[in-house]
Amino acid sequence: VLVTAGPTREPIDPVRYISNRSSGKMGYALAAAAAARGATVTLVTGPTELSSPPRATVVKVETAQEMRQAVLAEFAGADVVIKAAAVADYRPQTAATQKIKKRADNLTLALTKNPDILAELGALKSGQLLVGFAAETEDLLAHAGEKLARKNLDLIVANDVTLAGAGFGADTNIVKLLYPGGRVEELPLMAKEALADVILDKIGDLLAKKH
Ligand code: PMT
Repeated sequence: VLVTAGPTREPIDPVRYISNRSSGKMGYALAAAAAARGATVTLVTGPTELSSPPRATVVKVETAQEMRQAVLAEFAGADVVIKAAAVADYRPQTAATQKIKKRADNLTLALTKNPDILAELGALKSGQLLVGFAAETEDLLAHAGEKLARKNLDLIVANDVTLAGAGFGADTNIVKLLYPGGRVEELPLMAKEALADVILDKIGDLLAKKH
């Protein structure tokens, strides 16, 4: 089982970066739960404050491009991929080699699109079960459903990150599970550890159907 977690950091200069509020808790809970069930787990993680889950191989990365490389290196050997990481969609076009000096009143950063790792896996997949997350602030089902189809996923875990107790940084989450064909399962607020177990149960059901 290959799990991604945490944010990516996209350098602006040697001391600054663009990132997001992901703590890694959701992805680490999934890695720990999968390892506890006996799976061989690789966790590819952006920078977090969390300690490594027991019995998982941990690959630490910073940028989306590094995460892509680490994930692609593991993909062929994985049966299940769960992408809980919050990958930066854009990075600064160039990272300055020296600290940017404070001069003009306004400073414009040019950004360029990062690779969409999950979409790439969806195009490459050859039997792997692919589970994505969607972090949305509006039109949860429409946006998550679009990602499920476009990225060729078997399941997407949709969190409305505007809800108290859901999404970035929280110890709990509130999600809807969307499957190809339009089935939606709504889950109540629960600890990220408990949600990880529910997601793994659902993955188990999907694997059983597949074989
Ligand atoms: O880390 P926590 O603090 O515990 O918070 C958990 C979480 C909110 C980060 C997690 O539950 C979550 O929703 N993760 C996905 C966040 C996200 O980036 O969603 P997205 O809708 O932008 O991306 C959709 C999917 O594509 C995700 O599986 C993402 O990993 C993947 N993606 C996105 C962009 C990109 N360039 N490459 C990707 O692989």
